[in-house]
This record gives sequence, C-alpha cells and structure tokens, in this order.
Amino acid sequence: MSLLDDLRAFTRTVQADVQFALERDPAATSALEVLLVYPGVHALALHRVAAALQRAGVSLLPRMLSQFTRWLTGIEIHPSAQIASPCLIDHGMGVVIGETAKIGARCHLHQGSTLGGASRLRTQRHPMLGDDVLVGAGASLIGAISIGKGAKIGAGAVVVANVPPYATVVGVPGHIVAYYDPGDDTVLRLPDPEHDRIEQLEQRVDALQAELRRFEERAAGGAPATISRS
Ligand SMILES: CC(C)(COP(=O)(O)OP(=O)(O)OC[C@H]1O[C@@H](n2cnc3c(N)ncnc32)[C@H](O)[C@@H]1OP(=O)(O)O)[C@@H](O)C(=O)NCCC(=O)NCCS
Repeated sequence: MSLLDDLRAFTRTVQADVQFALERDPAATSALEVLLVYPGVHALALHRVAAALQRAGVSLLPRMLSQFTRWLTGIEIHPSAQIASPCLIDHGMGVVIGETAKIGARCHLHQGSTLGGASRLRTQRHPMLGDDVLVGAGASLIGAISIGKGAKIGAGAVVVANVPPYATVVGVPGHIVAYYDPGDDTVLRLPDPEHDRIEQLEQRVDALQAELRRFEERAAGGAPATISRS
C-alpha cells in the first residue's frame, strides 16, 4: 500500500469516527464541531497514527505519540491496542486502554473507563470487546475478559469476568441485570435477589418505625402501651 492509500484509509476512518459521534451524541450539532472539539476523536486519530507506526516497527515514537495524546486529551491508549472503526470515546478524560485490548466496531466508551490488565505476563491480558459495546463512565474492565457484542457496562461497574452478548452489567462486582433480545427488540430484566432483600428490609424498618411512633404517642397520652408482634 502506498502512502497515499494509507492517507485515504486514515481519512475514511476519521470521517467514520466523526459520523459515529454525530449519531451517538445528541449534543453534537455538526461534523465540523465534532472534528474541532471532541477529544475522543482527536485521541483516536492520533492513536491510529501511533498504531500504524507501531505496526511498521518504529521504536519509541509510537509510545511518545501516545503520551502526547494523553497530555492533549487525558485519554491514554497504548499504540498496540486494536480499535476498530467507528468508535466513540465520549468526553474521554481519564480513559485508559491497555496494550492488548481489542475493541470491536461501533463501541462507545465514556470518560474514566479503563480497559486494564491484571497480569504481569506479556500475553493477552486486557479486555476484548465485541462490536456495539457500551462502556459507561468510570467503569473498570479488568483482565483478558471477553465482552460480547451489544453488551452494556453500566457507569461505575467493575467487571472481571466474561460478559455474554447483549447483557447489561452494573455494580461492583459487575452482575447481569438484563438481556436485550435483538431478534424481537425486547429487554428481559433479571430478578435481583440482593436488591429485593434490601427492599423487604427497608419496608420492615419503615413498619417498625411507624409502630414505635404509635407506641410513643400512646405512652405520652397516658394510654397503656402495647406493641404489635406482626
Ligand atoms: C447500565 C445502563 C447502560 C443501563 O441502561 P438501561 O438499559 O436503560 O437500563 P435501566 O436504566 O433500565 O437500568 C436497569 C437496572 O440497572 C440499574 N442501573 C442502571 N445503571 C446502573 C449503574 N450504572 N449502576 C448500578 N445500577 C444501575 C437501574 O437502577 C435498574 O435497576 P432496577 O431494574 O432495579 O430498577 C445505563 O444505566 C448506564 O449506566 N449507562 C452509562 C451512561 C454513561 O456513562 N453516561 C455518562 C454520560 S456523561
């Protein structure tokens, strides 16, 4: 491939990222605005240059470019990370994408999200995201885990295990709360026993507080105080 072909491919990729930002961010008003002011778009464009240099065997420069990008945008992407196009890194500040991370097409990552490693071995040690994955603000995905196509990772979740396609994962540690069925466009909400138990306990505390208030009122009025056992 000639340099001109490389340039054309790069331009197409940036255009696709800009278009994707326009589709995904309701606050975006024009392609020019996205191109000029979206740090995620700048970080991805610079990453694509750093990744090409890395693949060409250039030493040091790709890491320097990656660190320059971090300085400029607050987004740190290792030059060896593989990111398909289009991709949107929304807001971006604090995003970290590790050396062996892989990100499928049409993924949408928010500020503060981490695709981090949990091993010191120089093997696959970062997350692998399928296509159409959403990663919420501040979510941490740790280790060589697979995140299935169309999965949604909630803001602030910590995910250390594989996530099946079209699952919604929230919380610490991350747990599945819903599945999206792309076949009939429906969402199946899963029961959350922990949440249900907390709700039952809250209702019980409310009932006990009400009982205690009645007891105190009767005692203050001089009536014989009795407490129900229900
Ligand atoms: C996880 C997420 C994708 C789910 O969205 P959704 O499919 O519309 O699902 P819902 O909002 O109906 O939430 C499903 C359940 O998960 C809970 N939930 C949603 N997001 C959560 C989160 N980040 N942490 C903990 N629980 C969460 C909801 O309370 C709900 O629980 P319930 O069924 O007991 O009421 C979304 O809530 C989210 O976190 N998106 C990230 C967006 C983001 O980072 N924006 C930053 C913009 S600057």
